[in-house]
Amino acid sequence: MKHVFAILTLICSLLVSVSVKADIVNGKELHDSNCTSCHVNMQGGDGSGIYTRENRRIDSYQGLVKQVNRCRDSLGVPWPADHVNDVVQYLNTNYYKYTK
Ligand code: HEC
Repeated sequence: MKHVFAILTLICSLLVSVSVKADIVNGKELHDSNCTSCHVNMQGGDGSGIYTRENRRIDSYQGLVKQVNRCRDSLGVPWPADHVNDVVQYLNTNYYKYTK
């Protein structure tokens, strides 16, 4: 019985880590196919300079969430909260690195 528990725990933690990873991969896909056009026009290159510019406007995790929602609205895509969250995870993991 103990073994069954241990195996179940292992499977659950594997599933959790896979879904966290998938969120970021999904976030990158959503981001790359929707979010770069304006930023490229503003910053050149692949547009990611907007996330690393010296005077960037984001200074917290909450600020990042707000900005992604704002940009989603100006883009006009009806993304549900989990799409927004995936993109926030992607940007935070790669550029902002805030703790929640
Ligand atoms: C309609 C044009 C447009 C689109 C499309 C757009 N953005 Fe933006 N984004 C902007 C502008 C303009 C700013 C700069 C705002 C400022 O400096 O006040 C910005 C800034 C940002 C920032 C903050 C950068 C910083 O200073 O740290 C983030 C994060 C961001 N956008 C995320 C996104 C995401 C995610 C998407 C896709 C859902 C997206 N943007 C799509 C126009 C756009």
